[in-house]
Amino acid sequence: MSIFRTKSVERSMQDTEAPEHRLRRSLSALDLTVFGVGVIVGTGIFVLTGQVARDTAGPAVALSFVIAGVVCALAALCYAEFASTVPVAGSAYTFSYATLGEFPAWIVGWDLMLELALGGAVVAVGWSGYFSELLATFGVHLPATFAGEQATFNIPAVVVVLVLTGVLVAGIKLSARFNLVVVGIKVAVILLVIVAGLFFVRSANYASFIPPSQPLPAEGGLQAPLIQVMFGLTPVAYGVFGIFAGAAVVFFAFIGFDVVATAAEETRKPQRDLPIGIIASLAICTVLYVAVSLVVVGMQPYNRLSRSAPLAGAFRVVGQDWLATIISVGALAGLTTVVMILMLGQSRIFFAMSRDNLLPRGLAAVHPRFGTPYRITIIIGVATALLAGFIPLSALAELVNIGTLFAFVLVSVGVVILRRTRPDLPRSFHTPLVPLVPALSVLACVYLMLNLPVETWLRFIIWMAIGVALYFVYGRRHSRVGDEPAMPVK
Ligand code: ALA
Repeated sequence: MSIFRTKSVERSMQDTEAPEHRLRRSLSALDLTVFGVGVIVGTGIFVLTGQVARDTAGPAVALSFVIAGVVCALAALCYAEFASTVPVAGSAYTFSYATLGEFPAWIVGWDLMLELALGGAVVAVGWSGYFSELLATFGVHLPATFAGEQATFNIPAVVVVLVLTGVLVAGIKLSARFNLVVVGIKVAVILLVIVAGLFFVRSANYASFIPPSQPLPAEGGLQAPLIQVMFGLTPVAYGVFGIFAGAAVVFFAFIGFDVVATAAEETRKPQRDLPIGIIASLAICTVLYVAVSLVVVGMQPYNRLSRSAPLAGAFRVVGQDWLATIISVGALAGLTTVVMILMLGQSRIFFAMSRDNLLPRGLAAVHPRFGTPYRITIIIGVATALLAGFIPLSALAELVNIGTLFAFVLVSVGVVILRRTRPDLPRSFHTPLVPLVPALSVLACVYLMLNLPVETWLRFIIWMAIGVALYFVYGRRHSRVGDEPAMPVK
């Protein structure tokens, strides 16, 4: 049996109709766009903007956002076509199963844990940081052992993950409503930063927009971007290289538009609405990010921006403490939905994988009353809570990026393959200029991956090696597609 056996699109679609695995369809295009914004706007803009401006790109961090946004736009065009053709919960996993085969699909499913479960845990730790800072402004000081980035056991992170797991089990519509309220707050806060911030912008802060490049300290070997090491360059920060290295980091801020595709089976008209949700949420966030980053680096010299809360910090420096507090509250609310939707995406991917028996099938059971895959949601919630509770995760954000970029590469390749193997399938959205756009998407994603540190690559390779081993020990033997005769492919 070939490890490259594919699962036909028809069969994937049929599985979504099986009564024991049917999810409740209640989402519209607007819900999906709000979902997208809910998961996209988070740690990236509220935290990484400051770090990247200080350490990597200077005020040109805004250009890093533009570059990362363009890379994501290319991938989003590919996701949109796929999602309109194969609207099944597994997203990149299902797409890969239909085109590249079972083993690559498993690899993508495994890889997506980096984006979703690890991403959720990373953002939960960021949430805990904002939470303790906010309490501190009201005079309540949580012990550093139990809260914030350096905690040994991060209680707020664990609690927020478990509460959100409960919301997810209770139903997709409830999750969508909760999300709607939070997204309203979050977007209002971002607009507030842009509009109020403009009054405090000083042109002197843009004087050195692209600071001259500077060598990184020698001990930073494993921290250097792979591409600089590969070509024997002295690792540098700032300058043009800094803008690209910064783009590879702020890419984190865009993660999530692809998660919209995992809600395919809960969308009323997925063929039409998924492409709208994916592209609209990405477009809205890109505009907001570029504007916010330009304003923030204009408010304060880049080398003095706060590392943990740069948006709020910039307002404190100009004496607007009350605005800073509002921004912190908005950030906290905003990070909540990011964690929730990343976990939602993870549960839907595992749901699709267990329906295919690549994970134990019992996990795919749907709750009779709530219509959600409750078992898998609870398992993921507990695992994410443990990760967030015990591991200092801020260093792992780049691992989330590499995992996501890798999935984007496979989806972009998949679009071209599916056009060749199944030209007959109805596609309500067409990626423009195939194969040019998918090819550019692959090149752009690989380029950003190469701009990530050597250390991140090592972690990624180890994680994927574990995944390969597990496929041969479990997935390959249990696969349902392997058991049943394949449907004829036209
Ligand atoms: N894009 C999400 C964030 O910035 C993951 O937090």
